[in-house]
Amino acid sequence: MSTLPDLQQRANRDEKLAMLTCYDASFAARLEAAGIDALLVGDSLGMVFQGQTSTLPVSLDEMAYHTAAVARGARHTFIIADLPFGSYQENPGQALRSAARLLAAGAHAVKLEGGDVMVETAAFLSERGIPVCAHLGLTPQSVHALGGYRVQGKDDASAQQLLNDAKRLTLAGAGMMVLEAIPARLAEQITTQVPIPTIGIGAGSACNGQVLVLYDALGITPGKIPRFAHNFMAGSHNIEEAISHYIQAVKSGTFPGAAHSFQPG
Ligand code: KIV
Repeated sequence: MSTLPDLQQRANRDEKLAMLTCYDASFAARLEAAGIDALLVGDSLGMVFQGQTSTLPVSLDEMAYHTAAVARGARHTFIIADLPFGSYQENPGQALRSAARLLAAGAHAVKLEGGDVMVETAAFLSERGIPVCAHLGLTPQSVHALGGYRVQGKDDASAQQLLNDAKRLTLAGAGMMVLEAIPARLAEQITTQVPIPTIGIGAGSACNGQVLVLYDALGITPGKIPRFAHNFMAGSHNIEEAISHYIQAVKSGTFPGAAHSFQPG
């Protein structure tokens, strides 16, 4: 069974971590067999699995249902589950109750979106033995406040804010951090200045690891996939090969390339 300290040690040895989202037992078993480092039961399931236009309608019951399915399929892999919109923002007590549901369903850590405003909650959960994965940059649960799915941290002030948030969340006890859609240089600064593993998605190649939405990585998502994603089925004969190409590309540092990354300004 892989654990958060294992992932931290691998990152300390400069081994890149390969993570994918996962929503069901069959894919979880395939991904575990392929050697994925961690699985994220992302609330992206609202969009790619349920066909919603955002992650906002996803409920805690649905997250617990999918987390339990993934945990049954992958019994030895570190599983992070998203706290869905509205299940943790009220206060740390609400976050604890929601996190407990996801851990009881089989998650080993919970992910929450937000910077400064989540510091108290991250501390509250981690002090009570719940591993926390922070999520900074493009935080899809704030899509309406952000005015769309846009790259974040492009100017000096917002970049500095994200760097400060990353440091504060780390000091509060977050054990891992997803950085989504931020300039590669900023992600590199965060990665060198915080001691916990950073997992990028549209954040350049300097992060300690990478994550993609599984359906984007396998070319299943209908329509256009985000610029930072790549369809690993192209050039692969089957799903196993595509997953293995993704893992190798992350481990060798060939994914993400410049075409999947953003610059400031
Ligand atoms: O929900 C999700 O899949 C995520 C990833 C995009 C990081 O949060």
